[in-house]
Amino acid sequence: MIKVENGYFKIDTPNTTYLFKVNPLGILEHIYYGKKIPSSKDYSFIEEQAKYGGGTLTGDNEYAIYEDCASLEASSSKRGDSRETFLNLSFDSNDREFVLKYKAYRISNGVNLDTLPSSHDKAQTLSVILEDENRGIEVTLNYSVFEDTDVIVRNSSIKNVGKSLIKIERIMSSSFDMIDGDFTLVTLNGAWAKERQINEAPLAMGITKVSSNYGFSSAQTNPFTILKKKETTFVGGEAYGFNLLYSGNHMTTYERTMYHKVRVMAGINDYSFSWTLNPNAVFEAPEATLCYSYQGINKLSHEYHQFVRNHIIRSEFKDKEKPILINNWEGTYFNFTEESLLGIAKKAKEVGIEMLVLDDGWFGKRNSDSTSLGDWYPNLEKLPEGIKGLSEKVHSLGLKFGLWFEPEMISPDSDLYRSHPEWAIKHKSYVPLLSRNQLVLDLTNEEVVKYIGDVVSSLIKDAKLDYVKWDCNRNIGDYYNENLDNQEEFLHRYMLGFYKLVKHVTEECPNVLFESCSAGGNRADLGLLCYMPQFWCSDNSDQVSRMMIQEGTLLCYPQCCIGAHVSSSLSHQTLRTATYDNKFNVACIGAFGYELDLTKLNERELQAIKDQITWFKKHRKLLQLGDFYQIKSFYTDNTQEFVIVSSDKSEAMYFVGNKVFMPYACPTIIKPIELNNEYVYEVSSRAQYQNALLGKGEMCESSEWTILGETFMNAGIRLPYEWLSGNGPEKRIMEDFGSRLYYIEKKEA
Ligand code: GLA
Repeated sequence: MIKVENGYFKIDTPNTTYLFKVNPLGILEHIYYGKKIPSSKDYSFIEEQAKYGGGTLTGDNEYAIYEDCASLEASSSKRGDSRETFLNLSFDSNDREFVLKYKAYRISNGVNLDTLPSSHDKAQTLSVILEDENRGIEVTLNYSVFEDTDVIVRNSSIKNVGKSLIKIERIMSSSFDMIDGDFTLVTLNGAWAKERQINEAPLAMGITKVSSNYGFSSAQTNPFTILKKKETTFVGGEAYGFNLLYSGNHMTTYERTMYHKVRVMAGINDYSFSWTLNPNAVFEAPEATLCYSYQGINKLSHEYHQFVRNHIIRSEFKDKEKPILINNWEGTYFNFTEESLLGIAKKAKEVGIEMLVLDDGWFGKRNSDSTSLGDWYPNLEKLPEGIKGLSEKVHSLGLKFGLWFEPEMISPDSDLYRSHPEWAIKHKSYVPLLSRNQLVLDLTNEEVVKYIGDVVSSLIKDAKLDYVKWDCNRNIGDYYNENLDNQEEFLHRYMLGFYKLVKHVTEECPNVLFESCSAGGNRADLGLLCYMPQFWCSDNSDQVSRMMIQEGTLLCYPQCCIGAHVSSSLSHQTLRTATYDNKFNVACIGAFGYELDLTKLNERELQAIKDQITWFKKHRKLLQLGDFYQIKSFYTDNTQEFVIVSSDKSEAMYFVGNKVFMPYACPTIIKPIELNNEYVYEVSSRAQYQNALLGKGEMCESSEWTILGETFMNAGIRLPYEWLSGNGPEKRIMEDFGSRLYYIEKKEA
């Protein structure tokens, strides 16, 4: 998959080629990244002769280039290139000049990082080593490929092989120059309760920086971005995806120049970052990912889903169906007792739910968000037999049991803070800023990492927990630890401590299902997914908001990672009312559960939930692990539509979500993709309980169809008006924000 010939480095994935060379000056020139091409002796037909342009000329009479307008692989020299560079170093007296030249390469199997999360089961890794002998630096660029996905993983590292200190002011994980500048940039932006909204804009001239300064990967800007052509659709056209395995401050920059190029770089955000590199020390940058698709956005997402499922997630839950849970948070908030929880658990068992999750409020004196983070022992007033006792009782009902923690945090009103005020992050001269009444523990301090790791993992083991929700409800305000010589190292050191902590706890408890959470979906990133196979997607479980949030999230992250719950009919976030079935239709594609007080529902509602669960269990594998393809977008169409197809194409699920009902609206014709042309399929709609809820009559089934795959995918099926039995013929198209699921199954011959 990786070939090195005549100075060319050719990296092939199943469908793409990434090509660069060492030029006679020892500089790496980027040549091509796109659809797979056969190997050739030379690539002069596509190579650029960067002999036009302006600026300074690097080279001699034999070979010279204008670096400023050349396509470079990991450009570092500011001597000829006036663009942003992937590595910024400073030496004595703020001298920043250095020149990296090719030294050697090696190809190895795999290779994981030592200090940071890293993808696994790589097929091959190419390492290209660059050096500046004058400065005593050696830089390694790594490129890894896999047999089953087009995602390429890159990272870089730098070693100080000289005798003096070097200050790293920026080190990007990946950088290259695309030969064409005309793109639309797609980013995922948001805030609490509206994470990962899809934004598209033409890529502007100059520098566009997509980044987080929050200390975490953040809801404001997810590290995943796409560059696509204007004409690219879900099913056709070119698209490039980029992401980073990092949960801290990240940045991806796009520099579009007058020479029709875009330099794309991704790595740790250089805002408030620098690192002092001692002689012999190595700094390792996080892994970055690249992916190219010539078959539209769906193919790009498909490659990322495949990559996440096979090379990021490594817990024993990798290919497993997730248990249906009930979380008490929106049902009770802080106001619960062992008795009320067991009441919910019993009802849960009756309707077929498989796990009870106890959320915030079980520890210390925690009856509101103003106290007790850090005091991870049970509140015996609420839970007289502790977490262990409750866990036994829940288990004896035949349910699994899970618990909420917020390990990185500390409340000023806590026993932990009273005994260790120095463990909270604080600047020596300023009062620390509070958020949700809490401070952040200083994970640059190894003692803190060890203490929290031991407390949390012993509790998990002692109470025989099956699941942990690992929350993190505020961002970092102060970047400071008085023992550091260089305060700009703080945040990255915090991330190293954080990864050590999550690695320790997840390795200590390998059979426990971990779900990360961060005030909803503030930390949905590939870094944390290496340790925890799913994330709580958003605190907003209103089905309309979720259609938008999940569409954005699914661009990169597969369904099995996305925590999605049915909450009470009146949404606590938007105050919109919806039927349980409409909420279910949207939530059931993810790591699915409920989040309400089941003891408050009437018999009809409980029956609806029971029916949902029976249906869900039949289709869970398809919904969570099937291949996802978007067909219509909530952002641009009047319906949102997608299909999830099993890998053997013997079954599929089609989702249609409405925006608002309009008389004589365009008919809804469902046309799945990626089925088998030759199979005959039976199509059935899930029982429409919402009709009954609307008081329009009894539950009724929509029509069923039998149709050839080829006909279905080309002509489609026109959805009928739904007839509600009862008071004579009444016609209605789907209600406002209503949705339907159609199960498609291959008919046995
Ligand atoms: C965060 C989470 C919620 C819930 C609360 C508890 O906001 O996103 O799901 O766990 O914390 O305080």
